[in-house]
Order: sequence, then structure tokens, then C-alpha cells
Amino acid sequence: MKGLLAHLPKLLVIGIVFGGVGLLLSNMVAPSKEQEGGPPQLRVPELSRVAAAGKRAFDTNCAECHGPSGSGTDKGPPLIHRIYNPGHHADEAFYRAVRDGVRRHHWNFGDMPPQPQITKRQIDDIIAYVREIQMANGIRWEEHRM
Ligand code: HEC
Repeated sequence: MKGLLAHLPKLLVIGIVFGGVGLLLSNMVAPSKEQEGGPPQLRVPELSRVAAAGKRAFDTNCAECHGPSGSGTDKGPPLIHRIYNPGHHADEAFYRAVRDGVRRHHWNFGDMPPQPQITKRQIDDIIAYVREIQMANGIRWEEHRM
């Protein structure tokens, strides 16, 4: 017991040094979103009541693939993206995607399976949610030329 106590300061120093190095390494290894080419800093605006309801439905049913706030993951594209501006992907695209699923065509994530658990009302809410974040990030209606 006495021997251990005598070593305690040394052990503490070793612990702190190794802990510090570990922390430094984990910071260096974890790539930031910007390095991965994701949206540099997604701005999430204050949400309307409808959009807040949409966020709840989105988080449970869509975020797994489309990412938090629609920022994308390795399983699905970001919806906060110029491609999904309302001129190119009107609201109808959301109803269709949820009802029928989506065949891979814009990206290489594979197909989106239909989401039959979602009600029409929930799609309305989700659209409001996605459009409000799009607006806050400068994504506006563009004529469909893509
Ligand atoms: C299992 C993964 C997955 C889930 C869950 C998912 N999606 Fe998708 N979604 C995708 C992929 C992948 C694409 C892109 C397909 C392509 O264009 O290559 C996509 C595309 C879309 C599109 C674009 C459709 C078009 O016409 O190009 C919309 C809109 C969309 N998703 C909405 C949703 C909504 C809303 C939910 C939740 C209710 C949802 N997705 C859940 C994977 C998913």
C-alpha cells in the first residue's frame, strides 16, 4: 500500500501524458465535415411550427440516410443541395419519393426504398422543414436546366 502511494504522483503524470496524446490523436484523425466536401456550415433557421413537426418526422424516418437537417450521409444525398431546389425537385418529388421510392439516378447511394409509414400530412410537414433550411442556406427556386 505504502509503495503504491509513493508511486501515485508518477502514475498520475503518466496518465495525463497518455490521455493528452490520445486526445490529440483522436482530434487529428477525425476529419471535419468540410474536408469531406459536405456543406461547410449548414445554417438551421428558427423553424415554423409546421417545420418543427416536419423535423420530428424527418429525424425518425429520413435522417438515417439524408443526415441531420438533410445534410447527407454515406447512405443518402443531402437534401440541402442545389439539385433539390424547388424548381428542379418540386414538392411533388417528395410525395413520389415517399410513395414509390427513388431509383438511383443523381448519385451513387443506391435506390431509396418507399416509406409507406409516412402520412401525407407528415410529408407536408417534412417539405416545409426541408424548404425552410434550404432557404436559410441560399437554395432558391431555379429554372430546371440540370
Ligand atoms: C434507406 C435510405 C433512405 C431513406 C430512409 C430515405 N431516403 Fe430519400 N433518398 C435516398 C437516396 C439514396 C436518394 C437518391 C437517389 C438518387 O437520386 O440517386 C434519395 C432521394 C430522395 C429525394 C429526391 C427524389 C428525386 O426525385 O430525385 C427525396 C425528395 C427524398 N429522398 C426524400 C426522402 C424523405 C422525405 C425521406 C423520409 C420520409 C427519405 N427520403 C428517406 C435514400 C433514403
